[in-house]
Amino acid sequence: MAFTSPTISYKAYAYKNGNYPIEIIDETIHLVKGPNGEFIAPKGKILLKINYASLNPVDYKLYHIKPSFLKFINDKQGFGRDFSGQVISIGSNTNTEVKVGDFVQGIYTPMLDKGSCAQYLLLDPKNSPITTKPTNIDLAKAASWPLVLGTAIGLLKNLPLKNSKIAVLGASTSVGRYVVQLARIGGAKEIITTNSSKNEQLISELGATSQIDYRKHPNFLPQFLESVKESGEFDFIIDTFGGAQLFPEINHILKKGGAYHSIVGDAPGHGFAALIGSIKSITRQLRSKLGLIDYNYQISLLDNMGGWINGARDLIQQDKLRIFIDSVYPFEELKQAIEKLESGKADGKILIEVEKPLA
Ligand SMILES: NC(=O)c1ccc[n+]([C@@H]2O[C@H](COP(=O)([O-])OP(=O)(O)OC[C@H]3O[C@@H](n4cnc5c(N)ncnc54)[C@H](OP(=O)(O)O)[C@@H]3O)[C@@H](O)[C@H]2O)c1
Repeated sequence: MAFTSPTISYKAYAYKNGNYPIEIIDETIHLVKGPNGEFIAPKGKILLKINYASLNPVDYKLYHIKPSFLKFINDKQGFGRDFSGQVISIGSNTNTEVKVGDFVQGIYTPMLDKGSCAQYLLLDPKNSPITTKPTNIDLAKAASWPLVLGTAIGLLKNLPLKNSKIAVLGASTSVGRYVVQLARIGGAKEIITTNSSKNEQLISELGATSQIDYRKHPNFLPQFLESVKESGEFDFIIDTFGGAQLFPEINHILKKGGAYHSIVGDAPGHGFAALIGSIKSITRQLRSKLGLIDYNYQISLLDNMGGWINGARDLIQQDKLRIFIDSVYPFEELKQAIEKLESGKADGKILIEVEKPLA
């Protein structure tokens, strides 16, 4: 689509830093002139009209830490990473497989820039993974999977899952649900999970072979030692919630040469305890890199380059993965959506409907 005006004005959520509210503001995108005098997206960029954004804990963690050392960077900080919508314009020399008119989903990754809770988004596909929407899901579901499924894929990357014994800590988190499904698809023999009993049936349908209720057993170390007695040490431990319960006996739980991958570190949250937890896990990662511990410890981060996203889209298109949506909030109700996200009780993804798709 070409535009007759050199700018697009639109509404977006933004905040100055965590001492200020997250508000709807007026934003502008500047376009450039195309070969026929029409206005199009700038070179290397894709312009999208957004239908849905989905929220992730990183959104509010960033909001809470921004009053600190990040205070002076960007006083129009956007909110939200995941999006779905339609490609409106593609600038010259843009390396992408998507085309104008395609329905797409992806992740806007520049953390201290704009956000996906906005009517329009201009992104660079070099650092913001984007792909065409699977035809078997709607645009709401499309916005729900990119960041969490991409993270799950990264957590399991290069792990020989076939016939393995794997633990998924936090199996009910949005990331954990995909880790369990991918471990099952990858052929893991035993998948032992921690999750509350309210999701017992679901987590077992996704692939768990046995479960530990973290609410009954907040320190689940004895249950893990019991499992080792029954069927041997674990090949892999994947932590999607954060915690350090297993480290006192880790050499008796995880095989020598096994892998412990976490996306959170030793303590969840965003306060002082989380900071100390991060320092401990970064130190452990360093010791692992230096070969000072008997297993591979890694804090896994989402791969922003997005080499994984077409494969992820294909798994959904082939109906191999179940997608989970907790709730959909209207654009005006971001505050309520964030409250639900922060409660830690969301059962799947929380979405913001920026604009209802046409039938
Ligand atoms: N490093 C990265 O690149 C990266 C990427 C994505 C996410 N993350 C981080 O990973 C974490 C999970 O993110 P998410 O979006 O998947 O979370 P989420 O969907 O918001 O997780 C909510 C779930 O957490 C579970 N939970 C609550 N307390 C728990 C506990 N003590 N132990 C185990 N599970 C518990 C609850 O499940 P029950 O039903 O079992 O109670 C709840 O349904 C967040 O800290 C997030 O910031 C990091």
